[in-house]
Amino acid sequence: MQKRVISGIQPSGELTLGNYLGALRRWVSMQDHYENYFCIVDLHAITEPQDPQELRRRVRDIAAFYLAAGLDTRRSVIFIQSHIRAHSELGWILNCMTPMGWLERMTQFKDKAAKGGRERISVGVFDYPVLMAADILIYQAHLVPVGDDQRQHVELTRDIAIRFNNRFGETFTIPEAFIGDTGARIMSLADPTQKMSKSTEDPNGTITLLDPPDLVRRKIMRAKTDSGSEACFDPTRPGITNLLEIYSTLTGLSRSQTEDHFAGHGYGDVKRELADLVIAALEPLQREHHRYIDDLAALDHELQSGSDRATAIAERTLRDVQEKVGVR
Ligand code: TRP
Repeated sequence: MQKRVISGIQPSGELTLGNYLGALRRWVSMQDHYENYFCIVDLHAITEPQDPQELRRRVRDIAAFYLAAGLDTRRSVIFIQSHIRAHSELGWILNCMTPMGWLERMTQFKDKAAKGGRERISVGVFDYPVLMAADILIYQAHLVPVGDDQRQHVELTRDIAIRFNNRFGETFTIPEAFIGDTGARIMSLADPTQKMSKSTEDPNGTITLLDPPDLVRRKIMRAKTDSGSEACFDPTRPGITNLLEIYSTLTGLSRSQTEDHFAGHGYGDVKRELADLVIAALEPLQREHHRYIDDLAALDHELQSGSDRATAIAERTLRDVQEKVGVR
């Protein structure tokens, strides 16, 4: 029996090169070895204010990128989180079994509470990890491919599952985070100490998957680099390290092969070559994405069949949980 995999991306902004290298490309390479569930987590996105039209557009846009990147509906179930009501229903039940203290310790919540203030951020931000636990546990997933920043949420999911199983008997598979080594952390070009993020304030730091070639080149040429001039991986020089990291992830070269490749070349050469490489990588992705967006009826049809398949599995788990808890 193949292990089950689940992951998802929030439609809270345009997909970035970081999403492609850290998530999509990795999922595609895993596809043949697992039973795959990949969703677009719109209910997570609304924990922060979203424009409704934009949200709807972005959800489809991301679905088109899933397919354009090579996720294949014959091998992966691709769906929109909110289409499967069982996520929310399981989320509620898990809420009732999760101590506040566990959620108060989540670093993502603490960061957001520190930035936004407890009077302004929603209960949804606080409760976010429980819905994520429901996303994972409802499919009885074994593996959760995510970035390092999500490791704590997967740990919490395990704790919730273990607690439930202890109290009600074997119900949930205990999942594990599956953190990749390369490309797991593509940093902002403008501030290489921060993750390249969809929702970042500085658009120059982020390459989105829809950026046209000239814009990609401009952003990379203007990327913040450090003092020094030699192209090598060096934690004290996060700017050049990030550019080399992107390079090695895209080419598949190891770090030392990448350094050898650029030996004797300065930052300018790295940037020029990296820009060519990123543009070449995005070209087919954008072409395929267009093809899917041009036929929204077909895209919606794919998403509908993904929902049907996901619902069948999710309902089974929900029913079992409801019976055990006594609400059915
Ligand atoms: N919290 C994840 C992120 O921001 C997104 C997410 C929601 C997710 N539900 C999930 C990832 C379930 C994996 C599995 O990246």
